[in-house]
Amino acid sequence: MANYIVGISGGSGAPYTRRVIEGLVRAGHDVKIVITDAGRRVIDIELGISLTGNPASDTRTVMDSLGLDSGPGSIELFDQRDVGAAIASGSSECAGMVVVPCSMGTLARISTGISSNLLERAADVALKERRKLILVPRETPLSLIHLRNMTAVTEAGAIVLPAMPGFYHRPESVDDLVDMIAGRVLDTLEVESDLLRRWRGTGD
Ligand SMILES: Cc1cc2nc3c(=O)[nH]c(=O)nc-3n(C[C@H](O)[C@H](O)[C@H](O)COP(=O)(O)O)c2cc1C
Repeated sequence: MANYIVGISGGSGAPYTRRVIEGLVRAGHDVKIVITDAGRRVIDIELGISLTGNPASDTRTVMDSLGLDSGPGSIELFDQRDVGAAIASGSSECAGMVVVPCSMGTLARISTGISSNLLERAADVALKERRKLILVPRETPLSLIHLRNMTAVTEAGAIVLPAMPGFYHRPESVDDLVDMIAGRVLDTLEVESDLLRRWRGTGD
């Protein structure tokens, strides 16, 4: 199975993150996760999961919160300051990376190649290696700066996939809305999941 990187920054949207990680692991993939300090704070606020910043204990905490024991896939968390980690190098194997949620700050730094932490460096590597990089922003309204940064990353090869669920499947719960976005992320990464309901037309 393949290696994927999940970057988690301090935008709102931790339920999306959880579903994406779950989908990758359940499909049998190995998931490398890097969370910014602000990302940890938002996870605590939105999911009530308290991460310490210690990669080993946080890996355990995330596995427990997802109900994952062993296999089929795996997760491993990295310290955002660990710029010597394997995922900081283009020589490491990676089938794709998603930043979910992607804060406007992280978007800005990726769009300008600043690479001030491991998440931004891994995203920079994905772009330079011409690998799939998906950014899931959650902000509204958008400033011209946000829009320009989204244009810049798109020109550099990234895919901007905003956390904007549709209503044409008549969602009945928040989980349905979360699954719609997580399913689109997994589908874009070409990972099998049962989260995405494809529109088959109106049948008229
Ligand atoms: C509860 C909460 C929700 C937030 N939601 C957003 C958001 O949706 N989009 C965004 O760009 N920033 C959001 N922020 C602000 C970012 O966390 C902040 O700009 C931070 O510096 C981003 O840092 P990072 O890019 O290193 O993760 C939120 C912060 C908190 C505490």
